[in-house]
Amino acid sequence: MNREVRKIGVLTSGGDAPGMNAAVRAVVRAGNYNGLTVYGVKRGYNGLINGDLFEMGSRSVSDILQKGGTILQTARCLEFKEAAGVEKAFNEATKFGLDGLIVIGGDGSFRGARDLSRIGLPTIALPGTIDNDIGCSEYTIGYDTCLNTVIEAVDKIRDTSSSHERCSVIEVMGRGAGYIAINAGIACGAEVILIPEREYNFDEDVLRPILEGKSRGRKQSIVIVAEGVKGMGVIEMAKEIENKTGIESRATILGHIQRGGSPSARDRVTASEMGVKAVELLLEGKSNRIVCVQNSKIVDIDIEEGLAMKKGIPDELIKVCKKLAT
Ligand code: ADP
Ligand code: F6P
Repeated sequence: MNREVRKIGVLTSGGDAPGMNAAVRAVVRAGNYNGLTVYGVKRGYNGLINGDLFEMGSRSVSDILQKGGTILQTARCLEFKEAAGVEKAFNEATKFGLDGLIVIGGDGSFRGARDLSRIGLPTIALPGTIDNDIGCSEYTIGYDTCLNTVIEAVDKIRDTSSSHERCSVIEVMGRGAGYIAINAGIACGAEVILIPEREYNFDEDVLRPILEGKSRGRKQSIVIVAEGVKGMGVIEMAKEIENKTGIESRATILGHIQRGGSPSARDRVTASEMGVKAVELLLEGKSNRIVCVQNSKIVDIDIEEGLAMKKGIPDELIKVCKKLAT
């Protein structure tokens, strides 16, 4: 039998992503619309463990839709990875009378949501990460904004790279996934794109396309490297390229600029739809679900099942890169 849902909590966890605020706003507004009391939990699972919760009304989320970051703050909470931490968090949630919790984050955060649901707190998880690395979802909140930030930055680097006839080696985020690298690389016309999902050979996959491009009259090269690629870092790679090809080379690490900024239309809309869906699921008595995009539709799936899914980088995308980098 469904327990009656009157009070719910919302938290953001793991790396922040543009659009998390839009999701928080949607949860609060949809919750209030349905007569629920909504609590914001500060600093991810830390806030739940420490009872750092505050009531949020519709006005508390005014003016945040367009803001990057997360007004709830986020954290990586090691204590929560242990059973004792999960229990502490559950007890605090019970003290506040929470009938459900909505967690916005990546796969680590989903594991935490699963653990809470196992001991009796209904949870719904929303994919919020710039990496777009959630297997069960075609899309994650923050990815589009991040991609556009990367594209803007690489375009700027291209201007100077072209003026000096250099090779620019650029590291983008993506701890274990190459989605940012591959799509930014295609969108920016990179000659070389290195992703964690594919091993590479320096001579074949880096030096060769650069030298062939030069022999065809190309004046500059862009090499995009995902952060999670094993082997040499971008500074060393730029030096090696310069030593081996004689082409002056520079390295840039884009870093946290990729996580900030006002969310794009896509991120605002997806986050808003997902936030509303999450509240609906709790009201229907559902728990342990991930809200995700499948076949371009917003659906929900069991957390365990969702965590087991892998999406990988489609071979077609790799082919597109190869054919265009001529
Ligand atoms: P993301 O959610 O972006 O993948 P993390 O992997 O850092 O980010 O996870 C965010 C938080 O989720 C962690 O700090 C921790 O509190 C919780 N978490 C991560 N992994 C687990 C796990 N295996 N079990 C329970 N909680 C976890
Ligand atoms: O998971 C998102 C992400 O931005 C990764 O791409 C990156 O590796 C990581 O977070 C960096 O996290 P931080 O610097 O905040 O520890």
